[in-house]
Amino acid sequence: MLLHIPQVLNSEQVAHFRERLAQAPWADGRITAGYQSARAKRNLQLPETDPIAEKLSDAVRIALKRNALFLSAALPRRIFSPLFNCYQVSDGFGNHVDNAVRYDRSQVSPLEENGHPVRTDLSATLFLSSPDDYEGGELLIEELLETRQVKLPAGDMVLYPATSVHRVEPVTRGERLASFFWIQSLIRNAGQRELLFNLDMSIQKLERDHPGDPTIVELVGTYHNLLRFWTDV
Ligand code: NI
Repeated sequence: MLLHIPQVLNSEQVAHFRERLAQAPWADGRITAGYQSARAKRNLQLPETDPIAEKLSDAVRIALKRNALFLSAALPRRIFSPLFNCYQVSDGFGNHVDNAVRYDRSQVSPLEENGHPVRTDLSATLFLSSPDDYEGGELLIEELLETRQVKLPAGDMVLYPATSVHRVEPVTRGERLASFFWIQSLIRNAGQRELLFNLDMSIQKLERDHPGDPTIVELVGTYHNLLRFWTDV
C-alpha cells in the first residue's frame, strides 16, 4: 500500500526547514547506502550527527506523533531518526531495495554499540521542495502490476512498503530536498497492518456519519482485539 499523507509539515515549518538546510554541511549520500545501493546512489545527505540534522529530525518526529493518519497507517513501534537528502542536477538513485535493518545511532544504549536496530517495515519520504522547484526527481515505486510515480507538494509525505524496489529519477533542473526514514511497525505483516488501517478508517467514517451508534463500540473492540493478537513487541 502506498499512502499519501498531506501536510505533515505546514508551510511555515517547511520554510524553516529549508532555511536551516541551506546552511547545513551536506556530504556524499553514499554514507548510509548499503553495498548494493551505493553503486546506484548519487546525491547529497546530511550526516546524522550534524546538529542541524538532529534538530530537524526531532521536529519531524514530533510532527509524526501528532499525525493521526500516519499513526493509523504505520502503527509505529520505532521510527528511525529522519535523515535529509538533496538531489541536484544529474543526481539520482537507481533501482534498489532498502536495507532490512538499520542501526539508529541517535538512540544508543551501552549494549548496542552500533545503534538501536530498527527493522524497516515501511519507508517514508517527506518532500521539502515544491514540485515547481525542480524537474525530474520523481520517486518511482514498483508494485506488482505497475510502477507508481510520486512527486508531492512540500510538507507532504508518502509511506510505502520498504520491501519494494524503488528509485529516484535524475533531477534535470533545480534541487530536490527531502527527509527520508524508516518505520518498524507494531504489525510486521503488511496485510494485517492494511486490514487494521482499513478498519480504523471505516470506524472513523461511521463516527462521522452515525455518531453514538452502539455498533462503533463493538467495532472499536474488534480493532483492539485484532491489534492485541497481532502486535509484535
Ligand atoms: Ni531507498
